[in-house]
Amino acid sequence: MNWQEFWNHRAMQEHPLSSVGRIVQGKTMSELSLHKIAELIAEQLHLQAHDTLLDVCCGNGELTILLKKFGNQISAVDFSPLLIEQAQKKYGNQIDWHCADASKFKFHQQFDCILLYFSFQYFESNKQALAVLKNLAEHLKPDGRILIGDIPDSAKKSIYYKGFWANLKCKYHTLIGKNDMGRFWNKKQLLTLCKKAGLEGLAIDQQAWQPYAAYRFDLFIQKSKRV
Ligand SMILES: C[S@@+](CC[C@H](N)C(=O)[O-])C[C@H]1O[C@@H](n2cnc3c(N)ncnc32)[C@H](O)[C@@H]1O
Repeated sequence: MNWQEFWNHRAMQEHPLSSVGRIVQGKTMSELSLHKIAELIAEQLHLQAHDTLLDVCCGNGELTILLKKFGNQISAVDFSPLLIEQAQKKYGNQIDWHCADASKFKFHQQFDCILLYFSFQYFESNKQALAVLKNLAEHLKPDGRILIGDIPDSAKKSIYYKGFWANLKCKYHTLIGKNDMGRFWNKKQLLTLCKKAGLEGLAIDQQAWQPYAAYRFDLFIQKSKRV
């Protein structure tokens, strides 16, 4: 099963937050947690009321819609037709929804801010990740800001896969194509890819209250300044 099939299948879950994998210690994440995450994102991106925002890998839009209260014109993209359909049905034209791959979407505008949250692990090769970063760079205004949030940290992989059996299970699931976690990223490698895409990244440790803080980090990105 590829990731697109995986997310189309996942979209059929009953709870909208489960449909986008928002599970914390075996339970669906609370609405309150998601609200806190949206507020932190607005702060990290320095979102202003007049800013345009693009949410890439938006899923069914449960997080996207919470950013609307910051008063922005928002466009959102995801490659799962089912999740986009759900978003459209529930939230209509409050957001400009699009179904497309993160490395291939095309808009005839550049944005002040771009968000890619809780999804970078699904770009498993450097080539794919670079194509995504280049596409984000193309859609970012010269002084724009990007936040790639909730990236699994390869240095903390053993916290997620604790112990011998968890590790073995991970290897087995990867082997049979059933790994539902995706790639743990090395910070340095990711920052190098950002540079190749003409971007300058800054890795940020998550705050202790963030649900996956033990093994994930955030990345704040701007366009490289040419001299
Ligand atoms: C874990 S969900 C996160 C949804 C939302 N960003 C959030 O934070 O709640 C991951 C999303 O990434 C999307 N996705 C994964 N790979 C993608 C790709 N190559 N292009 C576009 N969307 C992708 C999936 O369809 C899914 O909706």
